[in-house]
Amino acid sequence: MAIEQTLILIKPDGAKRRLTGLAIDRLDASGLQLVAAKVVRVTETLAKEHYKELSDKPFFPNLIRYIQGEFHAIPENRILALVYEGDDAIKRVRAIAGATNPEQADPGTIRGTFGRVTTQGQFENVIHASGNAGDAVREVKLWFTADEIVSGSLAKA
Ligand code: TYD
Repeated sequence: MAIEQTLILIKPDGAKRRLTGLAIDRLDASGLQLVAAKVVRVTETLAKEHYKELSDKPFFPNLIRYIQGEFHAIPENRILALVYEGDDAIKRVRAIAGATNPEQADPGTIRGTFGRVTTQGQFENVIHASGNAGDAVREVKLWFTADEIVSGSLAKA
């Protein structure tokens, strides 16, 4: 197993429903290390860069509005971004988060318990967790500068 870093975002529905503490509690209980955290103003540019691999999907425009907090009246487009680090961190955090579609997610996971599919078919799934090693590296770099990550385990690329 490799030591990995993975990006977590508490999405606007999670923030609105006061699930930030619950999400951090579950992540902490995993034994992974919290190595970075900050509140970020999600600009349209950042949102589109984060989800650029999905830019051709029909749900993309609403996904950008969702992550910017437009559907949940989040002031200042605020979002909490976290980096957790540890052995196999990407898979372990994905297991805590649950499957992308809240209706298919295991009921014990964050998404399975608290996520929903809107009447328009959009998934509101509470947290983001990097999907694979390539995405994790790209996303951690997109949301954090090297100096904001307090880790002795991984080189600051
Ligand atoms: P994706 O990167 O495929 O999933 P994940 O977040 O689990 O890595 O999709 C990004 C987000 O887009 C997802 O969290 C919710 C939204 N989404 C939809 O609203 N409808 C869909 O059919 C899909 C696949 C994703």
